[in-house]
Amino acid sequence: MIRLITQPTEYLENYHHTYGDIFAVGWQKPPGVVYVNHPEGIQQIFTANPALFRSGSGGAVLRDLLGDFSVLLLDGDRHIRQRKLLMPPFHGDRLKAYGKLICEITQETAASLQVGQSFRVRSLMQEITLGVILQAVFGLQSGERFNQLRRLLGELLESLGSPIGAALLFFSGLRQDWGAWSPWGRFLRLKQQVDRLLYDEIHERQANLDPTRTDILTLLLSARDEAGQPMSDTELRDELITLLLAGHETTASALTWALYWMHSLPEVESKLRSELQTLSTTEPSQPDPDQITRLPYLTALCQETLRLYPVALTAGVRMLKEPMDIMGYELPAGAVLFPCTYLVHHNEAIYPNSKQFRPERFLERSFSSSEFLPFGGGHRYCIGAALAMLEMKLALATLLQCWTFDLPPQKPIRPVRRGVTLAPPGHFKLRVQRSSENGYRSTNSR
Ligand code: HEM
Repeated sequence: MIRLITQPTEYLENYHHTYGDIFAVGWQKPPGVVYVNHPEGIQQIFTANPALFRSGSGGAVLRDLLGDFSVLLLDGDRHIRQRKLLMPPFHGDRLKAYGKLICEITQETAASLQVGQSFRVRSLMQEITLGVILQAVFGLQSGERFNQLRRLLGELLESLGSPIGAALLFFSGLRQDWGAWSPWGRFLRLKQQVDRLLYDEIHERQANLDPTRTDILTLLLSARDEAGQPMSDTELRDELITLLLAGHETTASALTWALYWMHSLPEVESKLRSELQTLSTTEPSQPDPDQITRLPYLTALCQETLRLYPVALTAGVRMLKEPMDIMGYELPAGAVLFPCTYLVHHNEAIYPNSKQFRPERFLERSFSSSEFLPFGGGHRYCIGAALAMLEMKLALATLLQCWTFDLPPQKPIRPVRRGVTLAPPGHFKLRVQRSSENGYRSTNSR
């Protein structure tokens, strides 16, 4: 367990090396926790009847943070209903409408950078993605409450990001409130402050409901169940915090890796810059977000980033309610299954030289949903996958149009655990080499 917390990729690789494409670990009654590391088994899980699994209740680790009503932790009909409610803002025209906003938030956030300055990449990317998700969820991203929310959400994630913080998630015995200075005490107090801000916003918006607004909170406030009842305040709070947390640090980690890879491999940066130069625009300073999202090399670069170090090492947990045959093994009810994204993404038969960052592999062939699964799959497929891809492409294109960075000489960086995710280390820095005269930085109009 300690290895899983402190060296998660080595932990998985060692077991895989010894036991292969499906293995069970842990001290619980056999078969305990089962990692499924082969596309065949993963496809069986993703295409099985969702009623076979309990996912939500298997994710008790997150319950303290997200609450009982989070879509991530619900099962059955309630899960289906919440997903239906939450999906529309993340698709189609509603999603497209975020394009310009993402470019603008990226420009504004990066505007403080100075030539010659070294900056912590993950912090800057987190500011960008938090700005985007606050806008999507609340339709706003400025004002006193939002500044406080920004700060507190960052601190909340930070409190779980360290190895001690991650241990809190894994060992329930450590979750003791020994005052504000103890790790769990600090977490609880931060959560309380975040909750207060969320409830204040909920109450204010309930009192002045404007049904013409298109943000997610308005959507949730207007929703009614079969009995005509609105969502309770606790349900609303749990859904909001889930989207705020699931929706920004994950994308920030992916963006940070993408910047790392392109600056440690000059040929990757140069191919991307050449592709960005092909953008045709009526106004040279403002390429169309739609055009950017269709660029093939940029798309492949984002996919390769999510493949090599997937932000989520595994898809979410699936606990079997009934026995199930997976890859020839009869697994009993109670078995806890993890489709293991990291190990599939490093299967040499699918991705030769899997440790090498090579976006071209995504241009040479396509991969099935059980071979490339950074956003999980089946009935729990990530709700924000399209938004995350949009953000990655537009933020990267905007940054590269406005700035040239370089990577000070250093050893290759390795992923570290951050709570339940895998992230680039917080100390990773880039240096600002040049700011572009022609970038669309100068045309910021918001
Ligand atoms: C690079 C960014 C992201 C990655 C790698 C990622 C990855 C994942 C993964 C692996 C799952 C579990 C899927 C499964 O169990 O099969 C998931 C679920 C989820 N994600 Fe994301 N995610 C990202 C961004 C986002 C964003 C931007 C949002 C939304 C605002 C979001 C909201 C959610 C929600 C609500 C779920 C729960 C879905 C359910 O249980 O039905 N994610 N994500």
